[in-house]
Amino acid sequence: MADERLIVALDFHTFDDVKKLVNELGDTVNFYKVGMELFYSVGAGVVEWLKAQDKKIFLDLKLHDIPNTVAGGLCSLMNLGANILNVHAAGGFTMMKTAADALRNEANLRGVERPKLIAITVLTSINQAEWCGALKISDQVVDFAKQAQAAGLDGVVASPQEAKLIREACGENFLIVTPGIRPAGADINDQQRISTPSAALQNGATHLVIGRPIRAASNPREAAEKILAEINGV
Ligand code: C5P
Repeated sequence: MADERLIVALDFHTFDDVKKLVNELGDTVNFYKVGMELFYSVGAGVVEWLKAQDKKIFLDLKLHDIPNTVAGGLCSLMNLGANILNVHAAGGFTMMKTAADALRNEANLRGVERPKLIAITVLTSINQAEWCGALKISDQVVDFAKQAQAAGLDGVVASPQEAKLIREACGENFLIVTPGIRPAGADINDQQRISTPSAALQNGATHLVIGRPIRAASNPREAAEKILAEINGV
């Protein structure tokens, strides 16, 4: 059974690229992230295809709108059967709570398993110099995480550098999904608040979202196996 703490980001715009990578990774990877690039170009069929391959899916569409619209959008997305959906915490407590309540009610009504709902805190691409919020980034992240938890969400997306603070503030049983993961040797410098796979997990992350370090490797399966070996036992 593959280690489901690793979620590989399928940031492609063709179905062929998805099939090639997923087939190449085979049993090594069980969890995939479908984001806006792929979803907007290929559509819902890619989620159905991944499910048919027995893969789990984090559908990362980062909803951000008024509460009623986000709740309705999530209930529509629930039809696809993804395991994790998400919203922006910046949409506010009421939006998050309305969304979480709507998903719970709808899943009960339909008798289907409710997807986990998590909130984006502050993107890992933003650093303190660019940030214009009133709070320090790390304080804002923790505040968003507490709001998400109080609103009934299952967890957050956050930088690995803030995972420890979130774990301390929100306790166990709270998902902390961390992008911005750079294994040793990865030469990708466009994200700011980054860390290695094992450090992210040691700091309390439950899942690592990794894209280019695997996709851009000359041998993606080997790259994934190396990451899994690094986190084995952590
Ligand atoms: O290629 P890379 O490993 O940087 O990909 C990271 C993935 O994580 C991207 O698909 C990006 O959308 C996602 N991400 C996120 N939240 C952040 C930062 C990146 O979901 N705060």
